[in-house]
Amino acid sequence: MIIDPRAAEAATEEFARSVALGLTDTPPWLHSRFLYDDEGSRLFEEICKQPEYYLTRAETEILKRCASRICDATGPVALIELGSGNSVKTDHLLSAYAAAESSVRYVPVDVSGGILQRARDTIVERHPTVTVTGIADTYERAFPLFKEFSPAMVVFLGSSIGNFDQRESDVFWQGVSDALAPCDFVLLGIDLVKDESILHAAYNDAAGVTAKFTKNLFARINRELGASIDLGAIEHVARYNAAWCRIEIYARFLKSQDVYLQPLDRTITVPKDTMVMTEISRKYDLDKMKDYLRCFDFAVKEVFTDDKQWFGLLLLQRLA
Ligand code: AVI
Repeated sequence: MIIDPRAAEAATEEFARSVALGLTDTPPWLHSRFLYDDEGSRLFEEICKQPEYYLTRAETEILKRCASRICDATGPVALIELGSGNSVKTDHLLSAYAAAESSVRYVPVDVSGGILQRARDTIVERHPTVTVTGIADTYERAFPLFKEFSPAMVVFLGSSIGNFDQRESDVFWQGVSDALAPCDFVLLGIDLVKDESILHAAYNDAAGVTAKFTKNLFARINRELGASIDLGAIEHVARYNAAWCRIEIYARFLKSQDVYLQPLDRTITVPKDTMVMTEISRKYDLDKMKDYLRCFDFAVKEVFTDDKQWFGLLLLQRLA
């Protein structure tokens, strides 16, 4: 069953309001969650296949190697996956849990209803003992539902946490902490700090897929909000900010453009050379992350890394 409680119209209005807020702010920004419409999710899947984008391969390697150890450590739990996407990496976890338990509950949460539906069909076919309850909504709106799935493990892969700024991250962890019962688990994937050139290449792939991903946000504004932004005059810029340990992604406006937002009947002028921040991707230090998570009553039970120590998978437990 797919739960989609939000009217499409309300979602479009919320999108328009967020775009207006971001484009009129100083410095300007667009919220990264709007990158993931069906086309954006498809492009992100393509990014994951690019040779420079090591994150997915590193995390998959860890999951393949460690899924049954994770399963042994948690015992039977419902797997609640945030930002599940195509659920391909989760397949290693589902296989391990399905081999250990007679039935497994899988609860993918993703804003893209289309991708959720496709993932569900594949999982049900591959794992007949897995029951899938998809939630097509934002994480925060899904939190109140979590207690009914306990004992549970929230699965948050791909270093998606890195796309939150500090305030969003704090709110997120407080929300997860409140949503879970004592002793429930979290499996968290984080990208670790490393040589700048490797990070730079990962977000500036030679095939230009990441650039298309950034531009799709503006294509989406055209499609859904009735704007007519000239996509040819928008440039993808991704650079590493070493002081903040994060990749910053911007759309540079190569000429001045009027952005008409039909749901608000409002036009916003974006001047030439404006850099609109569309995304950050934070990179982590393991010890600092452990200290941070302790502030939200999470203890790190185990840390798994890939051979190069580029990526970390942390098994956390909510303290009693
Ligand atoms: C989803 N998220 C973890 C990706 C990242 O690496 O921050 C999003 C992404 N944006 C451009 N490339 C990948």
